[in-house]
Amino acid sequence: MSAVCLKPDLALVHFDPTEPEFYLLECAAHGAPWSRAMFIQCSGRLYRTRALYAAGQLVGFSICYLVADEVTLMNIAVHPKHQGNGYGRVLFQDIIDFISDQHGQRQRTLFLEVRESNHAAIALYQRFGLSDIGRRPGYYPPIPPATANETAVVMRLGQGHA
Ligand SMILES: CC(C)(COP(=O)(O)OP(=O)(O)OC[C@H]1O[C@@H](n2cnc3c(N)ncnc32)[C@H](O)[C@@H]1OP(=O)(O)O)[C@@H](O)C(=O)NCCC(=O)NCCS
Repeated sequence: MSAVCLKPDLALVHFDPTEPEFYLLECAAHGAPWSRAMFIQCSGRLYRTRALYAAGQLVGFSICYLVADEVTLMNIAVHPKHQGNGYGRVLFQDIIDFISDQHGQRQRTLFLEVRESNHAAIALYQRFGLSDIGRRPGYYPPIPPATANETAVVMRLGQGHA
């Protein structure tokens, strides 16, 4: 699989979710990670997976689900020891580029859901212009030691905007 070269030490490549290192990163990054079964289901032509390597080391990944002109960000994660270094921005910019044409016009609509308490991720999405379009109460399982399910914020970046 060919790599997209960003800075000299960064590479974004397709990845196979059945490879164990990606699920290890999933478990390290999320307070309530997906099950392994759910993670490896994100394979095949309807999913766009991208792993980000810095100096040859895996630092993060994104997984999008593609249907017609809609792209849903299913998962994005940067390993905790690499967070705060701009890698989330690199992963998200790649998704923005994927939904845009060469003039920066959005050709597809991007949707995602995020925990209401996930201020870092919400700030990242707002930084890229996503709008808050609704709530799904009780959508997420609790992150221990919390016991109550958590509300999802639904966000969108629409077509036709630069
Ligand atoms: C969300 C996540 C991917 C961001 O990755 P990251 O590499 O740490 O983010 P970056 O360093 O690229 O920062 C990008 C932007 O995110 C926001 N951000 C990142 N960390 C933040 C924090 N701790 N508090 C507030 N905003 C934060 C900021 O807007 C930042 O932009 P700025 O640097 O111009 O202020 C990362 O925190 C992560 O993997 N979290 C666990 C998994 C997760 O919650 N995924 C989202 C599921 S919907």
